[in-house]
Amino acid sequence: MDLITMDDLTNDESISLLEDAMKLMPVARGLTHLPLLEGKVLGNLFFENSTRTRLSFETAMKRLGGEVLNLSEVGSSVKKGETLYDTMQMIEGYADIAVIRHPRQGAAQYAADAVEIPILNAGDGAGNHPTQTLLDLFTIRQGHGTIEGLRVVLVGDLRYGRTVHSLSRALSRFGASLTLVSPESLMMPQEIVRDLKSDGCDVSETSDLISTLPSADVVYMTRIQRERFPDEAEYEKVAGIYTLNSQDLTSSHSNMMIMHPLPRVNEIHASIDSTSHAWYFKQAFNGVPTRMALLCRSLGVQIPEVIN
Ligand code: NCD
Repeated sequence: MDLITMDDLTNDESISLLEDAMKLMPVARGLTHLPLLEGKVLGNLFFENSTRTRLSFETAMKRLGGEVLNLSEVGSSVKKGETLYDTMQMIEGYADIAVIRHPRQGAAQYAADAVEIPILNAGDGAGNHPTQTLLDLFTIRQGHGTIEGLRVVLVGDLRYGRTVHSLSRALSRFGASLTLVSPESLMMPQEIVRDLKSDGCDVSETSDLISTLPSADVVYMTRIQRERFPDEAEYEKVAGIYTLNSQDLTSSHSNMMIMHPLPRVNEIHASIDSTSHAWYFKQAFNGVPTRMALLCRSLGVQIPEVIN
């Protein structure tokens, strides 16, 4: 089974993955040894920079007893001009499942169509990032116990940010209300807003972050994605536009969560790190159990009812 966008999972399937991830927590932390994926090989294909996504997939696979092949542009034949189609043919012979990140929107679907092994989209240009969404949903449930009825504020580069493209759809399907905060030039693509509304989602758009803070249950900050701007001068106009520091949070609920897929540039001041609002490092760790659950499901491996 491939995972290219969140539309590949029903709500029930997503919840069941999140429940499996919860069971796998002690394995993710390295407290319990559970080699469910022994003998399996994951191909980690990163054609774009990554720290958390690549490393948490690698940790997830290794903690379950599996092996990992890492392809990067440096040191592979990608630099020699090999096509993605050809690379995928090779990977299919070497690995049982592959994770792909690529600068081109649609590349993960293209890769999935080229081979039979399961393909997991770890970010395709400004398209989608569904495995990030799974760990984001997991983190929100950790903090609030539910998703339904929450007011979630998505902030920053909503135009090019693949994390928020995937997350907004999933949140609306789970019954959250959304406030989209961006400058005019980085608004959420209209087709996504239209889909959110046709899902029945309560969604509003503004450029004023501070006014959204008193009623927010979750504030999801994102980086302005310099590498996606066709024009550097356009980037300079909006760089650093949204920043949060601890003084901005005085009117917020005590259990308001601040999240960020990371890396942060200057969106969240370090003064927030020691407050109970800071969820972004826990969020990054949650990539391990959620990706473990996803790897097991994609490889058809059942997770035991009780793990100890
Ligand atoms: C994000 C990405 O690559 O889309 N990072 C991540 O996977 N945690 C966000 C970003 O790069 O800003």
